[in-house]
Amino acid sequence: MSDPVLQHPFFRPDAAPQFRQPPGTPYFLRADSDLGRLVGDPGLAGDWAEKQAQLMRWTRDSAMFNEAEVMFINRMYEGYFAKRGFLRGNVLDIGGGWGLFRQWWRPEGEQAFVVHDPGTERFMAQPPPTLKKVYADGLARSVRFVEGFGEELPYLNGCFDLVLIASALDHCADPVRVLAETRRVLRPGGTLMVIQGFDAEPGEPRRPGTDLGSRLARVLSDPRRLYRAVKQRILHRGEPHIHHFTRNQLVNLVAEAGFFNCRETVLERTHGVSVFEAGRP
Ligand SMILES: C[S@@+](CC[C@H](N)C(=O)[O-])C[C@H]1O[C@@H](n2cnc3c(N)ncnc32)[C@H](O)[C@@H]1O
Repeated sequence: MSDPVLQHPFFRPDAAPQFRQPPGTPYFLRADSDLGRLVGDPGLAGDWAEKQAQLMRWTRDSAMFNEAEVMFINRMYEGYFAKRGFLRGNVLDIGGGWGLFRQWWRPEGEQAFVVHDPGTERFMAQPPPTLKKVYADGLARSVRFVEGFGEELPYLNGCFDLVLIASALDHCADPVRVLAETRRVLRPGGTLMVIQGFDAEPGEPRRPGTDLGSRLARVLSDPRRLYRAVKQRILHRGEPHIHHFTRNQLVNLVAEAGFFNCRETVLERTHGVSVFEAGRP
């Protein structure tokens, strides 16, 4: 019987043999991959590994996903997709984690939602109960999880209609390379969607709601938030992001990767989270 990976319509023929699919699962696991070789910088790869381990520890702790927090984020995205319309077509979700954005994907026929993430081993475990409950509809939609870095996509040129990178570009060792690969696998006329929190520009006044008093009031408003904040301080203290961007840096990265007409929709002002959508020529 032929390897089902080879039947996958998106893999480049030369890349397919590097993956194995445990029978009966949607997981495509990579035999090996070396980020240091990929980005040509073993030091950067070492930093990435440390931050990724920190992030994976965080995802194992269900207290980080209390209902108040999960609902807040879900409502933010829900409002956005209610205005924008659903994700359509063949979607690649780079750094997609559990693939929660399937919640806002409406396939027609044989279209695919592919989550490409180096944390696949971790995400093969079920999401915490709150996420399972809130994202039940999306999690029931079909998906393929492919293990790998955004810096090296094993897919054919132009095979996706939309590439989503949600809260993940700042976790990637080489965001420029990730965007170049994204452009390659998007079809002409396809869409890049980056969802990203960002820092204030140099000299920009402090955002309202980020002072100590407001932060304390938010945390004390709900015991689950307080518990989460305490755990975050004690157990998950390290910084999981390898990069920090300002809004202008993000917009420039997208333009320099060859995308056009970058439109920003603000999702949340206090922490600074926006959706940036741009076209692939
Ligand atoms: C904060 S999580 C976001 C998960 C998901 N996009 C969401 O919003 O629910 C960041 C994700 O980026 C992934 N990641 C880290 N480095 C990456 C890389 N080089 N390429 C692709 N994904 C990466 C992590 O494994 C993790 O799943």
